[in-house]
Amino acid sequence: MKTLEDLKKLREQLQSDRKVRKMSSTQVIVGMGTCGIAAGAREVMIAILDEIAQKKLEDISVCQTDCIGMCQQEVLVDVVRPNEPRITYGRVKPTDVPKIIAEHVVNGRIVEELFVGKIEQ
Ligand code: FES
Repeated sequence: MKTLEDLKKLREQLQSDRKVRKMSSTQVIVGMGTCGIAAGAREVMIAILDEIAQKKLEDISVCQTDCIGMCQQEVLVDVVRPNEPRITYGRVKPTDVPKIIAEHVVNGRIVEELFVGKIEQ
């Protein structure tokens, strides 16, 4: 049986591993609530996965989120680069994906025409 001290150390180590992982990879998050899916979120998700695979990009995690209450802006896609604000894009179509990946995910430049919001991390 581990002591309380061992468990505390283990917890600290896991938290710092998580922090390193979090800071080292870019996240792409697709809104896949009901309205997102109705607006084409599945197609956008497929386009994102295809683009990442085609460009052989590494260290990018793609995940989905639920409804955030902005139906009119779906499909919503967030990009979070390490140590940068979370940027939300709206009304994203599969044809917008190559630009978002090339400009923002790879080069860190926000795609102004699709920009709807920013959250400081
Ligand atoms: S289902 Fe559209 S904002 Fe929630």
